[in-house]
Amino acid sequence: MNTSFNIAIDGYSSCGKSTIAKSIAKKYNFRYIDSGAMYRAITLFFMREEVIKNKNINFDLLNKLIENVKVDFYFDTKTESSKTLLNNKNVEDDIRSISVSEHVSIVARIIKVREKLIAIQKKIGESKNIVMDGRDIGTKVLPNAKIKLFVTADIEVRAQRRFAQLKKTTSNVSFPKILKNLNERDRFDISRKMNPLAKADDAILIDNTMMSLQEQDMFLNNLITKYL
Ligand code: CDP
Repeated sequence: MNTSFNIAIDGYSSCGKSTIAKSIAKKYNFRYIDSGAMYRAITLFFMREEVIKNKNINFDLLNKLIENVKVDFYFDTKTESSKTLLNNKNVEDDIRSISVSEHVSIVARIIKVREKLIAIQKKIGESKNIVMDGRDIGTKVLPNAKIKLFVTADIEVRAQRRFAQLKKTTSNVSFPKILKNLNERDRFDISRKMNPLAKADDAILIDNTMMSLQEQDMFLNNLITKYL
């Protein structure tokens, strides 16, 4: 099986990109990189350091601290899952909180932040066998990826899925709050100047509103085996 290539997955908030990426990674032995987790980790750092407060950004402090942020991943062989590290500490759970979700798209449009993370992502992409998901992966980060997917689903369905997921671990979530957050993030991600969320011309569109996980897996397997 020749998997000496990269796969880029982009799409709207909470449309199942990471489920797709993880499933491909496991089945075909790719390394999964969650670029959104990197934006979430840097957002958590800025919230903790009060670089961002009440959705306002202190750019002086940001310029001072940004060099000190280290975002990384490690693969936990026990749980067979990737964990996000912020300055060498596991923040995988903290970065999924609704408060991080409420700030991340504001942070993700800051040019210095994007330049820093995109440089890391491009470097990772130099070694092949990577499946990376995000908003600008097929268009800007890995423009030479052999397979590009652009995923979407009805917003109510996406919010319902995220609500079901977060409800298991968090007490202060509500469906309307999540729906509002997805709408806001989509709006920010589509309209920012640098690397907005967009479908690459050569990306394959997947609308999984009505698809079961099995149907989606079958579609992906049929697609990927063509490239192996
Ligand atoms: O909640 P979901 O899994 O859909 O989002 P995520 O992939 O964790 O990404 C969180 C946020 O990071 C997005 O809403 C974007 O604002 C930002 N992001 C980005 O700007 N560019 C990327 N390549 C990935 C994420």
